[in-house]
Amino acid sequence: MLFKQQALLRQKLFVLGSLAIGSLLYLVARVGSLDRLQPLCPIDGRFGLRSQDEIPLRALQFKRGLLHEFRKGNATKEQIRLHNLVQQLPKAIIIGVRKGGTRALLEMLNLHPAVVKASQEIHFFDNDENYAKGIEWYRKKMPFSYPHQITIEKSPAYFITEEVPERIYKMNSSIKLLIIVREPTTRAISDYTQVLEGKERKNKTYYKFEKLAIDPNTCEVNTKYKAVRTSIYTKHLERWLKYFPIEQFHIVDGDRLITEPLPELQLVEKFLNLPPRISQYNLYFNATRGFYCLRFNIVFNKCLAGSKGRIHPEVDTSVITKLRKFFHPFNQKFYQITGRTFNWP
Ligand code: A3P
Repeated sequence: MLFKQQALLRQKLFVLGSLAIGSLLYLVARVGSLDRLQPLCPIDGRFGLRSQDEIPLRALQFKRGLLHEFRKGNATKEQIRLHNLVQQLPKAIIIGVRKGGTRALLEMLNLHPAVVKASQEIHFFDNDENYAKGIEWYRKKMPFSYPHQITIEKSPAYFITEEVPERIYKMNSSIKLLIIVREPTTRAISDYTQVLEGKERKNKTYYKFEKLAIDPNTCEVNTKYKAVRTSIYTKHLERWLKYFPIEQFHIVDGDRLITEPLPELQLVEKFLNLPPRISQYNLYFNATRGFYCLRFNIVFNKCLAGSKGRIHPEVDTSVITKLRKFFHPFNQKFYQITGRTFNWP
């Protein structure tokens, strides 16, 4: 009897073990095949990728594992040499606009195997102290990448800072510039919400949005308020156009990036002369967050931090109407210059 029970137990253990090993093997095979979901198509164009290379696949694996270690500073000089890694100046910069969706854009572009992001905002061109440290300091702030990959950084303060266009031009006059915009009044309220949250965290009180956005003496829009000024996109863009032709800019629709990110990302891939590699598989809607999140593979996915996608305070409708009327002519000019029209009121 005892012998029979032991034999039964052994049989059960064997079945369970086989199931566990089978599942593990399936998972390994599935993860391995995910990178191959999209065929490695010819990569042409400016960044010198060749079709016969399997570099994008290697790069993707690298981004998931080794690159992370390199970022943490755990790489030896030998490893860096072995992998032919370099710290490259950016070939494209997300120059703004603050609260337009700059973080989402950078993180989503980083899904592309040929793109490597600078994780932190570097503030090289807008901060005099950093700028004085020189271009080598800036390059050393860049992540390690393969020579064929492109590095992208984002510092939204660049868009509105007077000195920046000339400084970037001096570094690379043919650099590609990305600007992500949202409906100007919504962007201004988002900007205010971020500052408000900072004040609340420090237990400080702050004015209501209405009080800051409307001049109490004239009852007109307060153009001295930074959140308003930043949303006058055309004024800032015109400064940039003194240095760069409009062809070097690509405008991203930040409102559409929230609701329908893939087509916006595909336009950016085209602008950067990258092969289309970001797919719907890489983006999934997370109902709890209320936003699209990123899927690198079956194991690794992530949503943006909770500080992205804050609930905005309610704003008096007459103030919203006033602001929208104020921005209207500037928006028209912006559409005219950029050749991209939005349905902003
Ligand atoms: P709100 O907080 O006003 O909703 P930035 O990164 O430039 O600071 O922009 C922040 C904005 O990115 C957020 O503004 C949010 O609406 C927007 N955004 C776009 N896509 C997002 C995403 N997938 N997850 C979270 N926020 C996203």
